[in-house]
Amino acid sequence: MNELQKELLEAASSAEMQLAETRDANALEELRVRFLGRKGLLPALTAKLGKVPVEDKPATGKTLNQVKNTILQLFEQKSSELQAAGGGKTQSLDVSLPGRQRPLGHKHPITRVMDETVAIFRRMGFVVADGPDIEDVWHNFDALNTPPEHPSRTPEDTFYFGLQGDNWLNPETGILRTQTSPVQIRVMKSQKPPVRIICPGRCYRRDTPDATHGMSFHQIEGLYVDKNVSLADLKGVLTHYAKEMFGKQVKVRLRPHYFPFTEPSVECDASCIICAGKGCRVCKGSGWLELAGAGMVNPAVFENVGYDPEEVSGYAFGMGLERTAMIRYAINDLRLLYENDLRFLHQF
Ligand code: DAH
Repeated sequence: MNELQKELLEAASSAEMQLAETRDANALEELRVRFLGRKGLLPALTAKLGKVPVEDKPATGKTLNQVKNTILQLFEQKSSELQAAGGGKTQSLDVSLPGRQRPLGHKHPITRVMDETVAIFRRMGFVVADGPDIEDVWHNFDALNTPPEHPSRTPEDTFYFGLQGDNWLNPETGILRTQTSPVQIRVMKSQKPPVRIICPGRCYRRDTPDATHGMSFHQIEGLYVDKNVSLADLKGVLTHYAKEMFGKQVKVRLRPHYFPFTEPSVECDASCIICAGKGCRVCKGSGWLELAGAGMVNPAVFENVGYDPEEVSGYAFGMGLERTAMIRYAINDLRLLYENDLRFLHQF
């Protein structure tokens, strides 16, 4: 073994030892420059090969190549070790820094009222049903016995897709549903009676936003169809709901009203929970709060979905959730619910 070969082997073991002590990417780079850089040890040793006697050249050249490969391999190995241990930045990790905060969120007041309402009706045997927010005119109006001249159908009141001429009267025209009632139609079209469903969801109307109106809001629809269903059943179910939601002392009354899809139709009121029925600002002095629109399913609706009105009867109701949330949490402006202001939302 000649001098150069000895030097080469020493370089290899020196590289191995120093790499074993390298702890970060900067030190590794420094070492790389020292061994492999343009003015580093290995190029210097390579240059010495020219001075080796001709007969020694093949053996020395071989050693040189082996040592080069070994060193390159050692560097590569160290580099991937450091990367695996944290991007080679292990030194910059400050374990005393506080962790990143991920505050736990909570439910929006509307979602809470919706969940609670659903839970109350599920305990009475209702099943949750769902329908699309993007409806068509037939499901939202025609099937629900709403005549073409009904004011709620005009484009001033309802959001239509692809409005052209009077295609807003075309049963297939797309709309944003104005109520959750079309879910009644979808469910009855897809199953035989008996039906006992509630459908929570979002609705849309062309209202100018103010303290009590938004262009989008939430409703919960209820539908019960079976043999011999009566208005007394409806009142019983809504009374139970009101007592569960607002407290045992709450009273419920039905007032005559009109909806195209029910006959007879009623408004259901709960005694005001703020003043216990005495009359206050929230109930506008009447002592009562509107709870839901409701009624006995109109036989015309049964015919539209292929049910026999001689055979079955049913009740339906629809209630707004925003109002319930506002009363429940004493919120005086509906817009607060949608501004996404955390200072407001954190209070619930
Ligand atoms: N869809 C009605 C509305 O948005 C509410 C309603 C009234 C729903 C009576 C019903 C019902 O199911 O029977 O004003």
